[in-house]
Order: sequence, then structure tokens, then C-alpha cells
Amino acid sequence: MFPPGFFDRADPSPDHFFYAPPRLVTHIDDQAIAAVGAIYQELGLTGEVLDLMSSWISHFITPPKRLVALGMNQVELAANPQAHEWLIHDLNHTPQLPFVDNSFDAVTCCVSVDYLTQPIEVFTDVARVLRPGGLFVITFSNRCFPTKAIRGWLYADDAGHLEIVRRYFEASEGWDEPVTKQCIPPGTPGDPLYAVYATAL
Ligand SMILES: C[S@@+](CC[C@H](N)C(=O)[O-])C[C@H]1O[C@@H](n2cnc3c(N)ncnc32)[C@H](O)[C@@H]1O
Repeated sequence: MFPPGFFDRADPSPDHFFYAPPRLVTHIDDQAIAAVGAIYQELGLTGEVLDLMSSWISHFITPPKRLVALGMNQVELAANPQAHEWLIHDLNHTPQLPFVDNSFDAVTCCVSVDYLTQPIEVFTDVARVLRPGGLFVITFSNRCFPTKAIRGWLYADDAGHLEIVRRYFEASEGWDEPVTKQCIPPGTPGDPLYAVYATAL
């Protein structure tokens, strides 16, 4: 389904090297951040939520009842004001999540899906930790750390990225039909913002 080399990266070294220095920055502009918050609001992510590949900002307009932030940098995660709990976990080393089945009402992943080298394993395990009917919401724009993004992502355009994430859902187990959405369409001044989401069966 994915050609040889699709998940290779220019920098294949363990991710903890690249993510050791804290980056207390925003990776998308204010209107894209607002669009991420708006889609979380629209989809009603108010319960127990896991924010995958998280940093110091999780973008919720209304913080959920419980937010667990999973990422790579302790300083970034400890600075996240919306997170009730946080943990360091390298999804490219261990794609399985350290949570029991049916732990969350929703899982989010903002501007980071392009760094996953084993996305099918991760998406399959996200379905396991979600309660039936729970949503996995992936958002992204058109920027990245190019040495850490997978080659297949770097070779695709924005429409191709929507298709890649849609295929991740289709290739992994436990999902209803994914929905793709242009939250801020290309051509709008500023950063575009796209979402792909699906419901756990
Ligand atoms: C571009 S930043 C996005 C951070 C945050 N989601 C946001 O919206 O601002 C990419 C994030 O992915 C996380 N990340 C990268 N590789 C990861 C991995 N192998 N496992 C878990 N998290 C990872 C990093 O810690 C970093 O915070």
C-alpha cells in the first residue's frame, strides 16, 4: 500500500536527540491555531482526551475534563497549561500506547502525524485506547521539520497529505470511514489547516 522508502527519514537517529532542546514556540499561525480549537469544539472533545505528540500548547478553546499530553520533551509538556497529566513516550520506538483499553473519549494529534514512522501500528493502538464512538482527530498545515518528516510526506502536496492520513485510517484496524476537511483552505492568506478524523468502532 505504501511504496518502499515511504517511511524513511533524512535523520533516522532516535527521536530523543532531535527533541532534547525545548521548543516553546508555535508551529502554526494564530488563525490556524484558532481553527484547530474550533474543530475540537465542533466535534465536542470535552471528555477524557489524549493529545499525542504534544508540546506546551494543546489548542483547546474549552479545555476537556481530563487532558493527557504525550510527547518527547519534558520542559514543553510540563509547561502545557491545559494538560492534567503528561508523559514522555517515543511513538517511533514504541508505537503501542501505555494505556488500558477504552481509556479515552478522544485522541488528538496536531501538526505531527508526518513524523510517525509506524503510523498503522499507532492508529491501530489509538483505536484500542479509545472508547467505542470516540474520535481520533489529526490536524496539520504545510510546514514541518523536514529531516524528521517521513519521505512520503515530503514528496506529497497538501491534497496528498489528506489522502495519506485517510489511508492510515483505512489500513489500520478499528475505524469507521474517515472524514477529511479543509478547515482553512489553501489560497487563504496565512497557514492552511487540514483535518482528518474517524470514529473508533
Ligand atoms: C511540530 S511539534 C507539534 C507540537 C504540538 N502538537 C503543537 O500542536 O504545537 C511536533 C511534536 O511531536 C512530538 N514528537 C515528535 N516525534 C515524536 C515521537 N517519536 N513520539 C512522540 N512524540 C513525538 C515532539 O515532541 C513535538 O512536540
